[in-house]
Amino acid sequence: MGAGCAWDTRGMCVGCAWDTRGMRAGCARILPAITQACRAFKPASRVILTANYVEPALSVPVPKEFISLCERTFIRMSKFFKLRIAETRKETEDCISVRFDVPEELSEIFEYKQGQYLTLRAEIRGEEVRRSYSLCSSPLDNEWRVAIKKLPGGVFSSWAHEHFKTGMEVEVMPPLGRFYCELDPHKDTSYVLFASGSGITPIMGTLKTILRQVPKARVKLFYGNKNVASIIFREELEDLKNKYLGRLSIHYILSRQDQESEWFNGRLDIDKLKHYAKIFFQPDEVEAYFICGPQPMLLALRQGLFDLGVEKSRVHVELFNSYVEHTAPRDPEEAKALEGKAARVDIKVDGKSTSFMLPYGGKTVLDGALAQGADLPYACKGGVCCTCKARLVEGEVQMEVNYGLEDDEIAMGYILTCQSHPRSEHLVVDFDQ
Ligand SMILES: Cc1cc2nc3c(=O)[nH]c(=O)nc-3n(C[C@H](O)[C@H](O)[C@H](O)COP(=O)(O)OP(=O)(O)OC[C@H]3O[C@@H](n4cnc5c(N)ncnc54)[C@H](O)[C@@H]3O)c2cc1C
Ligand code: FES
Repeated sequence: MGAGCAWDTRGMCVGCAWDTRGMRAGCARILPAITQACRAFKPASRVILTANYVEPALSVPVPKEFISLCERTFIRMSKFFKLRIAETRKETEDCISVRFDVPEELSEIFEYKQGQYLTLRAEIRGEEVRRSYSLCSSPLDNEWRVAIKKLPGGVFSSWAHEHFKTGMEVEVMPPLGRFYCELDPHKDTSYVLFASGSGITPIMGTLKTILRQVPKARVKLFYGNKNVASIIFREELEDLKNKYLGRLSIHYILSRQDQESEWFNGRLDIDKLKHYAKIFFQPDEVEAYFICGPQPMLLALRQGLFDLGVEKSRVHVELFNSYVEHTAPRDPEEAKALEGKAARVDIKVDGKSTSFMLPYGGKTVLDGALAQGADLPYACKGGVCCTCKARLVEGEVQMEVNYGLEDDEIAMGYILTCQSHPRSEHLVVDFDQ
């Protein structure tokens, strides 16, 4: 909680939570900005309840940028906007990239950091489907481009490959995600990036941004694929290598096509990482590491970096999870112990409450509430994106996985509702906090 936070009686300082611009000392000053933002943006209903929390007696001059910060914070949370597809491009046999036209009036709301993602929504065979796709473009290019790899049997990716055409309108949520670090343009440093398959997408945006924004930075990319033909963005990567000669090095690791050195055959794993660390980079001299790809690779490389003494704060990971129907628990003995138990769940969103009963071993809190008709924010349903984050005001839950919440958020009582199952008789879950 920031010094001067006089209004919050529930232990949470909203002002500080939003504070990305060094306002810790004066979160009380941000409150009128929230009120003003609420008035201006009534359609974004999550704003309205928060206005009720605002101390009306406070009247402090509010700099415009805080209003803008508040507006963007709220609107970003769960609203979809219709964007026109400006271009679709075939990148490999099973991957297309899609560039969206973001009109001038939405450009601020759609501002992004390298490595963030967009969530797309469509109705497919009568059902609403949402999937997240990382931006492979750089914010410096004023371009919004995602790449979608077609998965065999994949609902959204197959549909997008079949239907996405120039001129078509798609429902898109503004950019989210934390797969980035702040860049210091004056720093003489290096970055190491690991990607596998479609995991190159956010890495591509990161790589392009670093090379342009930090002129003295060196970037090393280790990129795993099946064979040369399946390398997404191969041409663009080679062009970048030529353009940034001496600053960008790219090492391809192929699992189904032999290369001269054994160290570049097979999959990216912990042994390869340790070998590369001896030859290509000094682990403690690297500013930041970014890893994106399948979970086993991601966990192995992250552990490998920790083994080499790299601090947690310098390792950034992004996992691409797909939606799976969550029913917990999976262990039969645990399931038996929880049989017949159910919790009363009170959901608070937009100032309204919804109550329903939820079995301990059934749907997640999010799915249970959606089934009751609640309009709740979510995207990946895989414990990654944090769009479904809410505060557990009362009760206990068990989360299946958590790839998104930080330790301090958990300590403050936040949960990922898409992963949470009741473990006490009564839950109060507040989406407005
Ligand atoms: C933050 C984030 C960023 C992402 N960025 C990208 C990106 O840049 N590019 C990209 O291509 N993807 C990205 N993804 C992944 C993307 O969101 C989708 O998960 C992916 O496209 C698959 O969606 P789908 O609907 O096509 O497949 P789904 O229908 O969700 O299925 C996924 C896979 O599981 C299989 N499957 C489904 N149900 C079952 C079942 N019952 N039993 C066995 N197998 C089953 C399917 O056959 C398919 O292969 C990202 C995900 C996240 C969370
Ligand atoms: S919807 Fe993405 S973490 Fe829950």
